[in-house]
Formats: sequence, C-alpha cells, structure tokens
Amino acid sequence: MDNDQLLRDTLAELDAGGKLSRLKRFTQHGRYSVYAHSLSVAALSLRIAGRMPGHTDCKSLVRGALLHDYFLYDWHVKDRRRPNHALHHARMALENARRDYDINDIEADIIGHHMFPVVPVPPRTREGWIVCIADKISAARETVKRR
Ligand SMILES: [Fe+2]
Ligand SMILES: [Fe+2]
Repeated sequence: MDNDQLLRDTLAELDAGGKLSRLKRFTQHGRYSVYAHSLSVAALSLRIAGRMPGHTDCKSLVRGALLHDYFLYDWHVKDRRRPNHALHHARMALENARRDYDINDIEADIIGHHMFPVVPVPPRTREGWIVCIADKISAARETVKRR
C-alpha cells in the first residue's frame, strides 16, 4: 500500500463517528487546526520512515501520529486544571485515545512521548522517535508560515 492510501484509510478508520474530526475545532499553530497539524505530522512521519533503513510499523506510525495531539481542548484558553499545556497534553492525549480507540504499545509510545525533550522522557520505539521529530518540524513550519 502506498503512503497516501495508508493515510486515507487510517484517517477514515479513526474518524468513524466523527471522532477525529473534533480536532478541526481546535487551533494549533496560527491558522492550522490540530487536525491539519496532525495530518501533516502523519504525512511527514511516513516520508521520514521511507528514508530510514530497517522496518517501521507504518500502520502504528500513522495512527500514533494522527492521535499524538488528541487532547481535545483549546490550549489557548487558560484553565487551572492544565496549568502547563506543553508538559501535560501528551498524557491527556493518551488518556483520550485510550478511551476512544484500541491503542497498541507503539501508538502509546508515540502519543505519550512526543513532547520529548520538553518532557524529559524519551520515546522507546523508532516510531515514537520519528513522530517526535516530525512534530517539531511541522510545528516550526506552521509557525513560520503564519507570519
Ligand atoms: Fe503535542
Ligand atoms: Fe503536535
């Protein structure tokens, strides 16, 4: 299966009942929604994986990438229950993802550890490292493009 097909199929699967589309309501960087950001992180993760030697679990890679910011709140709105978005949202995303989907160990690693090194616990899987890097690149691009 090619990357585009894998991305489309996984998106359709995770969006059953409109669950993933909820991310369209939340802004991530500038004019990019969390949904658009998650899609670009997934696409970039697949491109990085394609250039690496060895085996990558591409299905888990895409699922984890699409759900890595599944925290489901507007982080621009201050709330005492989440005083530090950067530190806490990966754990929130993982809790939400576990509630709404069957999450395997690789996907949990991707979602739970994507904020390394801000949260000083590194990913344990290659898929986790790929998304961690793709997330930083995508975030930087989105932030630059809004200027
Ligand atoms: Fe994040
Ligand atoms: Fe992200």
